[in-house]
Amino acid sequence: MGDSTALINQLDAHLSLFSYIDGYVPSSIDPSVAAALSSKEVAKHQYVARWHAHIEALVNENEESFSSAPQTSFAQQLLKQFPVKQSTNTKMVASGDSSPAVTDLPQYILHQLDNGEEVSSLELASRLSIDHQKLIGAVKSLLSHEGVIATRDITEKRVELTKEGEDFVENGSAEYRTFERVAKEGGTPQNEIMKESYGKVGVSKALAAGWISIDKSAGAVTVVRKVDSAVDAVAEQLKALKVGDETKVDEKSRTELKKRKLISEVTIKAVVLSRGPSFTTTLEKPEADLTPEMIASGSWKTTTFKKYNFDALGVQPASGYLHPLMKVRSEFRQIFFQMGFSEMPTNQYVESSFWNFDALFQPQQHPARDAHDTFFISEPALSTKFPADYLERVKTVHSKGGFGSDGYNYDWKEEEAQKNVMRTHTTAVSARQLYKLAQEGFKPTKMFSIDRVFRNETLDATHLAEFHQVEGVIAEKNLSLSHVMGLFREFFRKCGLENLRFKPTYNPYTEPSMEIFAYHDGLKKWVEIGNSGMFRPEMLLPMGLPPDVNVAGYGLSLERPTMIRYGIDNIRDLFGPRVKLEMIYNNPICRLDKKDD
Ligand code: PHE
Repeated sequence: MGDSTALINQLDAHLSLFSYIDGYVPSSIDPSVAAALSSKEVAKHQYVARWHAHIEALVNENEESFSSAPQTSFAQQLLKQFPVKQSTNTKMVASGDSSPAVTDLPQYILHQLDNGEEVSSLELASRLSIDHQKLIGAVKSLLSHEGVIATRDITEKRVELTKEGEDFVENGSAEYRTFERVAKEGGTPQNEIMKESYGKVGVSKALAAGWISIDKSAGAVTVVRKVDSAVDAVAEQLKALKVGDETKVDEKSRTELKKRKLISEVTIKAVVLSRGPSFTTTLEKPEADLTPEMIASGSWKTTTFKKYNFDALGVQPASGYLHPLMKVRSEFRQIFFQMGFSEMPTNQYVESSFWNFDALFQPQQHPARDAHDTFFISEPALSTKFPADYLERVKTVHSKGGFGSDGYNYDWKEEEAQKNVMRTHTTAVSARQLYKLAQEGFKPTKMFSIDRVFRNETLDATHLAEFHQVEGVIAEKNLSLSHVMGLFREFFRKCGLENLRFKPTYNPYTEPSMEIFAYHDGLKKWVEIGNSGMFRPEMLLPMGLPPDVNVAGYGLSLERPTMIRYGIDNIRDLFGPRVKLEMIYNNPICRLDKKDD
């Protein structure tokens, strides 16, 4: 048993090397090997299973191409099978076909059923003297035509001759051969007979049958005949069993043959065949493909199609491909992880104005809240569930001020904060996370996110209505601006940008705010790479963060570095419906120009 397990594992590994689409050429032995495997074993091995399904399908289509398998053990068959030749030719190779010329087995079966009688597959196989498994293959192909035939499973006990049994049929039983070996006159020395392959068994059985006796009178041991002639009943019984003439062998003899290991009883799974509800003897060969011609002529309406095989495994793709944005994203993620940042959950494209703007101390009249810049959602148009006390504090800080601020002094409206938008920046996510941090109890935190945001922009070569933001947030007690600038330098150094400059700018939610510039060696100029700042107390204190906590944030687009990295100058070649898949297949993996760190 251990042997066959090793073999089937080996077979599985071997078969994993084949594609079943561009050409596995089975030999005539494949079907019998396939039939020898138990379905349990097959199911346990992915590639054996695939090969098995393949062979089964081929057998169904090409029964006549296979010869019946030689009677060797499973292990021998497998060993013989290695290695299987691979070729680009998908045609079946029929080698050494010795079965009778039944060119269309399914057709033959149908004719046998035409008289309305039932017949077993074993009976049919013996009528044709072909391998039973081959007949079953034809039955399966008939079953794919719905209702043409009906089957009922049966099991049958069958007697099979062992190797020794076959030998006896061919050459006579051991005792008969022994009798024949003994000279009529004067007998034959026993040691001579013992040299024969049948000698040992033969002498004892012939003695028991009373055909011979042992004569020790002359000193040497001699075997002599006791009768004039003998009938080889054992060989006769075996011959009868071999051709299925079981009535000729009584129960006692059969038991004796079994005991002598000349025969063995096997259980064979078979089917009883009969006519199905839509029985016919003229089989239509179902079409496998729907062609443009069939559609044009309308002939598809009356054509019989082959059933889909939903279990068939498709071509295994060589590999998957990552979009350049995903490659650059994974580089950024690695850098963030190296620096001890954890990732924020960004799986929410639709956000309320409250979290996208109000929580960030962005006044309700701010131009960014205009429909020209922001996509508003019409269904569902509003969000209504906000933490009530926090909402109250946000309202107060906008309209009246507080926490040392004068606020904006305007009539803050909850209806405005309820409006749903496609999030315009991932800072909405950062706001939610900072609020959560305040609720759960502050501890020093570094968080990042990389995900999609949406802006109602005029589309051009460098702008789309959606893009990806890379955002980092650092919350720490008594965090200073110089500390934060050092951290930015470290981050961008890991991205391959050594030379940074900071330029003051304005964000509603940060003070001070800085644009980050890097010197671009290729372009020989300073280019803006990101936006940053220290979040305002008007944003942090209403959340409930302790007053001595400072939070810095920065953001950049994912598209910009990706386009530079891959030399793409039109954003539409990178993202959207015009992207060529070759660009994705062919682009190398990404490595930001990292310095040794
Ligand atoms: N949200 C800003 C943007 O969209 C980036 C930013 C994040 C700025 C955090 C400061 C702090 O450009």
